[in-house]
Amino acid sequence: MARRGSPLIIGVSDEGHLVASDVSAMVRYTNKVVHLRENELATVTADDFSISTASAKLIERGTETVEWRAEDAELNGFPHFMLKEIYEQPYTIKNAFRGRLEPGEGVPKLGGIMPVWEDLKNCRHMVLVACGTSYYAACVGKYIFEKLTEIDTEVGLASEFRYRKLNFPPNTFVVAISQSGETADTLAAIKEAKRKGATLLGIVNVVGSTISRETDGGIYNHAGPEIGVASTKNFTSQLTTLTLLALLLGRHQHLSLTEGIQAIRALEALPDQVRELLGQSSHIEAIAEKYYHCTNWLFLGRKYNYPIALEGALKLKEVSYIHAEGYAAGEMKHGPIALINPEMPTVAIIPKDEMYEKMLSNIHEIKSRKGPVIAIATQGDERVRELVDDIIEVPPILDFLSPMLSVIPCQLLAYYCAKFLERDIDKPRNLAKSVTVE
Ligand code: G6P
Repeated sequence: MARRGSPLIIGVSDEGHLVASDVSAMVRYTNKVVHLRENELATVTADDFSISTASAKLIERGTETVEWRAEDAELNGFPHFMLKEIYEQPYTIKNAFRGRLEPGEGVPKLGGIMPVWEDLKNCRHMVLVACGTSYYAACVGKYIFEKLTEIDTEVGLASEFRYRKLNFPPNTFVVAISQSGETADTLAAIKEAKRKGATLLGIVNVVGSTISRETDGGIYNHAGPEIGVASTKNFTSQLTTLTLLALLLGRHQHLSLTEGIQAIRALEALPDQVRELLGQSSHIEAIAEKYYHCTNWLFLGRKYNYPIALEGALKLKEVSYIHAEGYAAGEMKHGPIALINPEMPTVAIIPKDEMYEKMLSNIHEIKSRKGPVIAIATQGDERVRELVDDIIEVPPILDFLSPMLSVIPCQLLAYYCAKFLERDIDKPRNLAKSVTVE
């Protein structure tokens, strides 16, 4: 067999050898793997394997050990991987910052970016590229970079990136964000960025994946295998690693020690806040039961939570096949308001931040048109409670970290709607976990 374009991995075990395109398919059988590189050939038998170049020159390559445990790839009593992975988030968020925080200094340590640190610390232009849910993490990342650093940050959909006329300022960093590290469009985007002189970073979950090898430095998410096709725990891990990167760079720019310490404390408190939020899942299940028959939904948010509106709508579409639109709440008056009626629920993300009053006025507009509103609001917000049909309360948190909490009710709403509609939740129709074609 040969690798050209799509990933190919050999699993090595005493009971035989395996071949797959994704490490998560292997971990039940072995944690010893060999990654084939582009244009390499492999001959695999039950008890041996060899790798050669296209010109038949033999290549010596040892196995790599995958740190994931076999039980990480099992359901462990959960009915679906999606639910299990949603519930893993207190641990996976912690894993993304474990050993990487220096609370006294208000600054994270990120060994994987050290090879490019001298250039990175002087970087003034950054582009975050990704697809799907990872792209929405990039969109939140842009706001976080704007908040914590002085770096001019843009986001790009990897599938559109190559069509652009790229003209990077000197010392531009392009950051590829990808759970699998194998998404063909993201790979193609970084290849083009490299050609145009950018330095590449990867924010990747799968260790040893192609993106992690093609980039000049990077940060692993350490979220463990994600089996459900719809990405959940990786999203919050990506937001955690993006925050660490922004914090590190910000602390080398204008960000004060106090602000650094405050951010680190807030990150450390997050796993418990997520756990607290997961305690509301039966309440969220009851809301899903009330609305799952509705065929059109709207998700609204502003600033940090605008990408969460997009991600909330995507999650619902992916697993329940309900049509949903994610919108920047300020754009509602330019179109979606025409759709509002008693049959169309709106999920309004309204934490108590600088956007609060504006979100409140969006909710008023929806209610005056008899649209049902499910609010994701800050704990104890009586004004919102009185106004809306249903409320999901999230613990108070620093504004730029609020997406990590507000996304969780969105994930659960999507999951429970799909459950009531009896969908194939972990393997939704027409979708793939890792998209290795363009
Ligand atoms: C597919 C998956 C999504 C994922 C996207 C990007 O569409 O179904 O869940 O967000 O690919 O994948 P990546 O591995 O690059 O994050």
